[in-house]
Amino acid sequence: MAMTLKLSLPLFPLFFIGLFTVATATTFSLKNSCSHTVWPGTLSGNGGTVLGDGGFALAPGDTIQFPAPSGWSGRFWGRIGCNFDDAGNGHCSTGDCGGMLKCTGGGAPPVSLVEFTIASGEGAKDFYDVSLVDGYNVGLSVVPSGGSGDCQSAGCVADVNVNCPKELQVVDDSGGVVACKSACAAFNTPEYCCSGDHSTPQTCSPTNYSKLFKNACPTAYSYAYDDLSSTCTCIGADYLITFCPST
Ligand SMILES: *[C@@H]1O[C@H](CO)[C@@H](O)[C@H](O)[C@H]1NC(C)=O
Repeated sequence: MAMTLKLSLPLFPLFFIGLFTVATATTFSLKNSCSHTVWPGTLSGNGGTVLGDGGFALAPGDTIQFPAPSGWSGRFWGRIGCNFDDAGNGHCSTGDCGGMLKCTGGGAPPVSLVEFTIASGEGAKDFYDVSLVDGYNVGLSVVPSGGSGDCQSAGCVADVNVNCPKELQVVDDSGGVVACKSACAAFNTPEYCCSGDHSTPQTCSPTNYSKLFKNACPTAYSYAYDDLSSTCTCIGADYLITFCPST
């Protein structure tokens, strides 16, 4: 008994540092490379730590950083064309989360997403992807740094809105295309939604619409059963998420 106590006392500081390191596993940086303000929204899974109060304004050229605990999962997206009052109530033309600056739910489609599952244990893989399964409103990319393993970058190289076919367009009052619906949201058929007799990876194929998304964002999910290379993994990295990465 006495010996155990003697041993554990000098070990305590090391144990504490170990805990602290694991607790702040990952740093997310969110950068706005658009020529206009973006209001990022954040949503954590399983009642996990809320990052950035759920949402905030990010001016052109600005970058903001958040530490996230190990085991964190959740998503980031960009809201465009927002107006909020001093109490944080208002509306965004795309990506809106129920009229609040500080999101407690996801963004309304069409919305481009970055999704993460950060590893719970040291040496384990983080999983992440850019998804256009719910459509597209603004270009996104995710670039890992300082990690080991595959650690691919993912996201968009071109603006989908510019090439969005008429039947998928969401337009603002002045007729400008502000978002591009998924073909599933626009037509709600099994072929486009990977449902019914198209509900398996073998029976749900890319379509002419998903190919348009894929061309602009080659390393993003363009439909539910897009190829597995769209899911990225990396160990022990920090992540830079950029809005309008190509401009
Ligand atoms: C996609 O295919 C459908 C069905 O064949 C066709 O009606 C539609 O015009 C096509 N759209 C584009 C953008 O190619």
